[in-house]
Amino acid sequence: MKVCIIGASGKLGRYMVQHALDRGCEVVGVCRERSVKKLEAFKGRITVVPGATNDREVIRKAVAGCDGVLTVLVPWGTHQYSTGTAQAVLDHAQPGARLIFSCGWHITRDGKDVYPKSLKREDKIIRLITRIVPFVDIDDQVEACRRIFTSNTRWTIVRGSDLEEGESQGLPVWSRHVGDPILVSNMTRRVDFALFMVAALTNDELLHEAPAIVGCRTPSALAHTVATGHGH
Ligand SMILES: NC(=O)c1ccc[n+]([C@@H]2O[C@H](COP(=O)([O-])OP(=O)(O)OC[C@H]3O[C@@H](n4cnc5c(N)ncnc54)[C@H](OP(=O)(O)O)[C@@H]3O)[C@@H](O)[C@H]2O)c1
Repeated sequence: MKVCIIGASGKLGRYMVQHALDRGCEVVGVCRERSVKKLEAFKGRITVVPGATNDREVIRKAVAGCDGVLTVLVPWGTHQYSTGTAQAVLDHAQPGARLIFSCGWHITRDGKDVYPKSLKREDKIIRLITRIVPFVDIDDQVEACRRIFTSNTRWTIVRGSDLEEGESQGLPVWSRHVGDPILVSNMTRRVDFALFMVAALTNDELLHEAPAIVGCRTPSALAHTVATGHGH
């Protein structure tokens, strides 16, 4: 499988590069010119296409011939970075390619997510701060996801919980709605978020789903598995 990783130099991106290589994929990574050095460890094993992830020409070139595209969707700045990135991928990925996007629990597909008070508070604070210092644009990430949800591509949007570093604990479990008991622990190892993204490339159960994920060793995941004998 030939896979393009958009936002390859970030923390999530580098974990995805490693997982994809472990699976024997041919990897093309896109990252900002200034961040190419962060991919030094993979030199000779991946192809790097330097450039902004919302640069349509960069994306067109990078996704050519790829069966899968993994996109780190980030809401940086005030220049529609998320929508620009998502639209470029939707428009240029080859027909039938599997498209996996990352975001957080704050994205909702059907409005049926029930958010913990702490998350609502966090959202309010970020929106207040960014009204004064607009370094991120959450609404642009929301719009990017709306476009993905309504596209006729083979998409999955993986919604990450709070993240922590640490060794892999295995593939996270998931649920369709934040608020479901299995997700209560709200913590995933970043390396496992990346594992879920890469595994989604070949998991058709996740086609046109927006799984909210949580670490498989967290108390809520373990309790759910014990209580019901299954988890996703
Ligand atoms: N952080 C969390 O707690 C959390 C929780 C839930 C979900 N998520 C989701 O997880 C994904 C990865 O997030 P992360 O926080 O873990 O970050 P990350 O993996 O470090 O990725 C950050 C990405 O943003 C790029 N970036 C940083 N500053 C930028 C700028 N000013 N302009 C353009 N691009 C810039 C980085 O590229 P460079 O390498 O070039 O800097 C990198 O590709 C995102 O989709 C996020 O929504 C995060």
